[in-house]
Amino acid sequence: MITAPESKTKSSVIAQSKSEWKLPQLVTELPGPNATRVLEQDARFMSPSYTRDYPLVAKRGRGAVVEDVDGNKFLDFAAGIAVCSTGHCHPKVVAAIQEQAAELIHMSGTDFYYENMPRFAEKLAVTVPGPEAKKVFFTNSGTEAVEGAVKLARYATRRDKFIAFYGCFHGRSMGSLSLTASKSTQRKGFGALLSGVEHIPYPYAYRCAHGHTAQTCGAEILEQLEGQIFKRLFDPEEVAGIIIEPIQGEGGYVPAPDFFLQELQRICRQHGIMLIVDEVQSGMGRTGKWWACENSGIEPDILCSAKGIASGMPLGAFIARESVMTWKPGSHGTTFGGNPVCIAAGLATFDLIESEYRENAGQVGDYIFQKTANWTDKHKIVGDVRGRGLMIGIEIVRDQKTKEKGPDLRNHIVDLAFRRGLCILGAGENTLRLSPPLLIDREQADAALAILEQCIQEAEGKA
Ligand SMILES: Cc1ncc(COP(=O)(O)O)c(C=O)c1O
Repeated sequence: MITAPESKTKSSVIAQSKSEWKLPQLVTELPGPNATRVLEQDARFMSPSYTRDYPLVAKRGRGAVVEDVDGNKFLDFAAGIAVCSTGHCHPKVVAAIQEQAAELIHMSGTDFYYENMPRFAEKLAVTVPGPEAKKVFFTNSGTEAVEGAVKLARYATRRDKFIAFYGCFHGRSMGSLSLTASKSTQRKGFGALLSGVEHIPYPYAYRCAHGHTAQTCGAEILEQLEGQIFKRLFDPEEVAGIIIEPIQGEGGYVPAPDFFLQELQRICRQHGIMLIVDEVQSGMGRTGKWWACENSGIEPDILCSAKGIASGMPLGAFIARESVMTWKPGSHGTTFGGNPVCIAAGLATFDLIESEYRENAGQVGDYIFQKTANWTDKHKIVGDVRGRGLMIGIEIVRDQKTKEKGPDLRNHIVDLAFRRGLCILGAGENTLRLSPPLLIDREQADAALAILEQCIQEAEGKA
């Protein structure tokens, strides 16, 4: 059933050289004795706000495989929440980190210069679509990239209102949390957030209230924006930015239709509003292009990145048209953002994604979509399979006709998959998220899908 990979690229051979780092291998009950000890200590000393779905206690990783503290190996289709783009501990990324750590660990790009910072900025800048030159600000995380984008949009427009979308996730610090409308738990108990933020529905084709398709869903939302929000709440001349994930991540791996993003760009241009594209999860090659927004032919004014940008080192960035990023020295800064070791990891990551993994993500992603194309026919609890490249969402329902959500079934599948050696995460209320490292080959895709199908079948028996 498992077919041989068609071709192996040079660095995927290096990264996954030994067969023991290719597929799952379980050697103890889960959790094993060492994991159990860590879980006990964690329960005593760690903040209870973390959201662990299953007891994986990671010790080391290579390629798309993670080994736990008891020697169990898991095929990792979560990639540290879509972060380990080049796989775990790619030798080229490790070497770049080690060399840089031995040379210079910190200097602070806010106050001093170092060679690799503008070097990486130049590489990133040219990947962002649009004729105008771009400028880059480096951060430590996704939420900081969004915070910076919000500040820049206010500064550049001298306006203070924002439009964001239900279901979107932009981070958990106070500014980005004001834009996030993913789960009320993320806001509950934290009091007042930024004022001047309105949320409108995201074009979610599978659940489109107007019965549209994945190509046409969303026209009514744009009407609501122009006909209601702009007429009754915010004059468009007061709106600094509209922020959107071109593929909703935490919200359930939901792509926005191309026409919707294009129309949003038109509306932004018409009113001098900054179009801010949050590509923290969808960017850095995951969809087969540098940025998911390229698939729709739009040119954002500001683009936010993080997660996969440095293979797991804490780095983020926001990238803006140069005529937008004109703020004065001191108007924005950071002590650690763009730290030399993170930038070194970013440069190595960039080269790997550019030379092979971006293309691989597109090809293996297409392969997975082909293999799962009939899952809605085969499995009565699979409502929808969607996404692009290696950003794949499988929505689990109780009933395909009524589309009643199956969050318990989804959670059960995630747990069963772990117990069979496959790490995945949920997204949204009832969607399975596949976000493996961009280097996976067909053999690993086959293995993951075989496990997943078994788990779906088992959960189906309980539906
Ligand atoms: C689209 C998007 N934006 C922003 C963030 C926040 O990133 P971070 O957790 O690095 O702050 C996330 C994290 O999941 C995200 O998916």
